[in-house]
Amino acid sequence: MSVKNVKVSASVLNADLSALGEEVGKVERAGASLLHIDVMDGVFVPPMTFGDVVTKSLRKKSSLIFDVHLMVKNPENLIERFAQAGSDMISIHVESDCDVAGTLARIRRPGLKAGLAINPSTPIESVYTYLGLADMFIIMSVNPGYGGQAFIPESTEKIAALRNEAAKRGVPALIEVDGGINENTAPDAVKAGADILVAGTYLFNSSDMSKAVESLKNS
Ligand code: DX5
Ligand code: ZN
Repeated sequence: MSVKNVKVSASVLNADLSALGEEVGKVERAGASLLHIDVMDGVFVPPMTFGDVVTKSLRKKSSLIFDVHLMVKNPENLIERFAQAGSDMISIHVESDCDVAGTLARIRRPGLKAGLAINPSTPIESVYTYLGLADMFIIMSVNPGYGGQAFIPESTEKIAALRNEAAKRGVPALIEVDGGINENTAPDAVKAGADILVAGTYLFNSSDMSKAVESLKNS
């Protein structure tokens, strides 16, 4: 039994997108706390997925915390639109083309939680300067763009390093891990310091989604 209060953020990227409303209902009934909405612009990553219009329509159907992950080249001018669409948290990539500190402040302005995501090949030290400016950090444990990939084991070192740095600076920082999370990889991520686990394929491929969510919460 995990002593930590690990939260599950369900990614619908690999859900049946032709029945997205029902799929969101499924993860909500299964006990996920957050809905992880992977926004892709076809430039920062090759696929194009959901926008603020889809987010707005899902907002009417779900009381989950909307954890919006912007995998877009230029996130700055999307913030207000996703805030108005009903997002609770918006995360941008440190690798995107924007004023990172300014954009994080822009997310916080309407009272949302600001997140900063970092790709597997980007050194963790590059986000230390944003400790205190972001409420949450997303450690990408797969290369962004696709669900169903294998967890990159080195991600646990980045989680631990960020956890240590935040403690050293006395700054609160939620850590979310995104990609390849399942019952085998979740315990390492939680042990290293993760607070929120994003899971997509593991949930949607499971025969009992509630049990799958529970297994992650108890990692
Ligand atoms: C990948 C996305 C992840 C992905 C997670 O670019 O950011 O959120 O959907 O999906 P799984 O759990 O299938 O790795
Ligand atoms: Zn994501």
